[in-house]
Amino acid sequence: MIIIIILDSSFLFYQGDTLRKETFDRDLAETAKSVGLIFKKSSVKKLQDIDENSISLLLTEPHDKMFYSIRDDQGRFLFGNPDVAYQKAEDIDPSDPDDFNVYFSSIKNESVRVVSIPIEHSIGNIKKQFFIQVAETRNQRTEIQKQIIFWILIPQFILLISALILVRFAVNKGLSPILYLNEKIIARSYKDLKPIDVQNVPLEVDRLVGSLNNLMSELDNAIKSENRFVNDAAHQLRTPLAGILAQIQLAQESKNSEEIKTRLEQISQSSKRLIHIINQLLSLSKTQPEAKHATDFQKIDLMSLTKKTMEDLFPLADLKKIDLGYEGSNDAAFVMGDEHKLYDLIHNLIENAIKYTPSSGKVNVFLENKDDKICLTVEDTGKGIPKDDQPNIFKRFYRGDNVSQSGDDAGAGIGLAIVKEIANMHDATIEIDSRNDKPGTRFYVYFEPIKT
Ligand SMILES: Nc1ncnc2c1ncn2[C@@H]1O[C@H](COP(=O)(O)OP(=O)(O)O)[C@@H](O)[C@H]1O
Ligand SMILES: [Mg+2]
Repeated sequence: MIIIIILDSSFLFYQGDTLRKETFDRDLAETAKSVGLIFKKSSVKKLQDIDENSISLLLTEPHDKMFYSIRDDQGRFLFGNPDVAYQKAEDIDPSDPDDFNVYFSSIKNESVRVVSIPIEHSIGNIKKQFFIQVAETRNQRTEIQKQIIFWILIPQFILLISALILVRFAVNKGLSPILYLNEKIIARSYKDLKPIDVQNVPLEVDRLVGSLNNLMSELDNAIKSENRFVNDAAHQLRTPLAGILAQIQLAQESKNSEEIKTRLEQISQSSKRLIHIINQLLSLSKTQPEAKHATDFQKIDLMSLTKKTMEDLFPLADLKKIDLGYEGSNDAAFVMGDEHKLYDLIHNLIENAIKYTPSSGKVNVFLENKDDKICLTVEDTGKGIPKDDQPNIFKRFYRGDNVSQSGDDAGAGIGLAIVKEIANMHDATIEIDSRNDKPGTRFYVYFEPIKT
């Protein structure tokens, strides 16, 4: 801003000063021409000095002193004031009124501006060239120069001050919503994630507040869901632990060694369930979205992984006399993924199928290519999942109405939440087909294949 004003003032000053010089110099040149005319009149027949009266009238200025000199074509002094110096100039065109020789000089230690013009004059039929010099002290010039500076600098200075005031005002006004927002944020507790209420702010700040509020509401949801998770998890762990404690107390009070043995057996069952729940909780926390980037995906053959998982589950199926079988293609089916997590996904689905199918039922697993995807199907002949439950079964700790909350069916409701997280991190989609036209339940998981 200041630089612009300085540049602007310098430009104006330069323009004004040039104009001033030109006007003054042209005036001087006019005077020199008049001196030339008077000289021509006074020297018609012979070379003669000019009439003092008429010249003094011409060379009178209220603020400055003026002098003249007439010199011959060699620049030698003829008349007037010998101190008025002559400077030879090249290429002066006498016919051009704007073309004359100007220069600075000094007379008796006073600085003067001199204009020199050439004239032609014939005396007694001999044509000769003369140079007329007119010099003027520079009082009025300096005075006007001062005034130009003054009249340029004052308005520019006023302009500068008003611009500064204006800029300051605008910046303050523009920043005030941000400063206000800042105060509001500073004054907040880290626990307070309610939306910030800032009204009548410019559009940009409004957007910023909107994004901040969105972020806070997401954070709020995440924190609430974490709290709920911890709460639910504690609850899930408390139930079997309370059971274990009760069994221990009963065993302590009992003298019957048979009874003690049964109690110990029950304690062992509850402990196993507890370990299972804890393992599932750990597995769930490892599949949180933020863990996704930490995993290194590898090329996995889903076919052999599925068969390997099934082998681990045959004992469980045998226990319930369930016919667990693989009926899909035996071709390798490659996907990019994390082997342990994919194992958990398949394991949880088959485990549910076995768990929620009555004895002597059937669980079929197969892999096939469907619509450019690799589709894993886990099919059972069990009780099916009520339509109302279907949207909810992937939520953490959710257990359907179709299962009993104790005994063989007992679970923590985490299995499918894990399945869903693992599917998400592998960009796989899950579909359920249950309680439609066929009995039992079918889970379909669609994986993105990699070309081999
Ligand atoms: N194959 C299935 N047949 C019937 N219901 C099922 C099946 N798989 C899952 N479900 C239902 O989904 C719910 C959630 O399953 P899951 O998350 O594995 O928890 P859990 O098995 O511990 O109950 C189960 O409680 C049950 O209601
Ligand atoms: Mg389960």
